Amino acid sequence: MADLSINFAGIKAPNPFWLASAPPTNSGYQIIKAFEAGWGGAVWKTLGLPTINVSSRYGAVNYRDTRMAGFSNIELISDRPLSDNLKEMEEVKKYFPDHAVIASLMVDTREEWIQIINDVQNAGADGIELNFGCPHGMCERGMGSAVGQEPEVLKTIVEWVMDEAKIPVITKLSPNVSHITDPGLAAVQGGSDALSLVNTFKSIVGLDLDAYAPFPVVDGKGTNGGYCGPAIKPIALHMLKELAQHQKINHLPISGIGGIETWKDAAEYILLGATSLQVCTAAMHYGFGIVREMKSGLEKFMDDRGYKTIYDFAGKALPNVTEWKYLNLNYSVKAKINNDKCVGCDLCYIACDDGAHQAIALPKDGSRIPSIIEENCVGCNLCSLVCPIEDCITMVQKDNGKAHITWHERTENNTIPSTFNDDRAGGKGHYVPKPSDALKTSIK
Ligand SMILES: Cc1cc2nc3c(=O)[nH]c(=O)nc-3n(C[C@H](O)[C@H](O)[C@H](O)COP(=O)(O)O)c2cc1C
Ligand code: SF4
Ligand code: SF4
Repeated sequence: MADLSINFAGIKAPNPFWLASAPPTNSGYQIIKAFEAGWGGAVWKTLGLPTINVSSRYGAVNYRDTRMAGFSNIELISDRPLSDNLKEMEEVKKYFPDHAVIASLMVDTREEWIQIINDVQNAGADGIELNFGCPHGMCERGMGSAVGQEPEVLKTIVEWVMDEAKIPVITKLSPNVSHITDPGLAAVQGGSDALSLVNTFKSIVGLDLDAYAPFPVVDGKGTNGGYCGPAIKPIALHMLKELAQHQKINHLPISGIGGIETWKDAAEYILLGATSLQVCTAAMHYGFGIVREMKSGLEKFMDDRGYKTIYDFAGKALPNVTEWKYLNLNYSVKAKINNDKCVGCDLCYIACDDGAHQAIALPKDGSRIPSIIEENCVGCNLCSLVCPIEDCITMVQKDNGKAHITWHERTENNTIPSTFNDDRAGGKGHYVPKPSDALKTSIK
């Protein structure tokens, strides 16, 4: 049976599923409830200088039938008194000594950092997470993403913290940067024990067309929020990969955050190098109970593949994430329709004809099952992505007899197309209909 327990930079937890610093970790009550439900750790809602919150605070992107495909907030760090939080932290640790309780912190001056680090250490925190991420409110006061976007400042504050901290320190990065490796390297240089990412993306989720203001509207006005939830997972995974492949960064453990909702999301994060996982939006949307499916799903995945601990497969996908120039230019797949599954909606035909390569034909006999014109198909996947029936269109590898070759190798062999009309260009000679074929028949 798979062992889900982790030791993350010295912070031990019975499993890698931690609540991210956010409303679900606002109080000892919620964290104890979460641990009872099966979460392995919790990063306390960020503690720091006093704040006042506004009402309302959240906005969302509801995509078709999916509510909160993306989620946004303009909330600040904890607005509860520090002493209440510390008292509750101590109590949580008494009930759950083997679970990870991490204090997320955000203050301004060196003196404030020294004081609050000692406060949370005395309260029994297992680790500290530095919040250099909030892209709203706190950054206007020179904290949060204002630090996360300035590697030199970030490094200095990490150094202050490392001078004082006696427990492991995780630096939580802001994704609102061009190159995530810049703050990542700064955190390494400052001496951080670990990294976590991502915090939220600076965003406007939509406009209220009556108020003429962004959501969430506060008395007729709005501001940019921090975007999170399932919509950000692809960008977060890419940033994780950037850190996990970087030779000067990847010796640090990384806690993966962003759109994690199921065990599959967790497995993807681990395969790209994360060794703990943090969840906010999914816990806010569905409650703490989702951790049961996450744990059992990940355990089954590990048992099926013979992994005893998550370290057996952490980062295992990284060697397969390469640069475009190293991909095999001669690998070929073609779309294949399963006529028994097809319901004749013709979405694939429309997508391919208007948005791809005119490689799907409609039947002439009035029936609705389309067919693939193989010689026109470039294997782009679009039809299989739009088809509403699972596995109805599959992409099948075709052996074209051509040897493996990459752009990089062709560059070295001096066989890349080099002029605008070069015969060696990929699309040269590929069928496209005549422009006039698009005219309505009567005008032709
Ligand atoms: C309402 C709300 C409040 C948040 N507050 C904090 C915070 O106080 N400190 C922090 O580091 N991150 C905060 N976050 C960011 C989350 O910890 C997390 O990094 C982000 O939501 C991405 O994870 P998710 O996609 O699972 O939501 C907050 C997020 C939300 C939605
Ligand atoms: S894979 Fe692309 S080119 Fe081929 S049939 Fe589908 S949409 Fe058309
Ligand atoms: S999209 Fe799928 S179900 Fe619809 S016609 Fe094409 S193959 Fe058939």
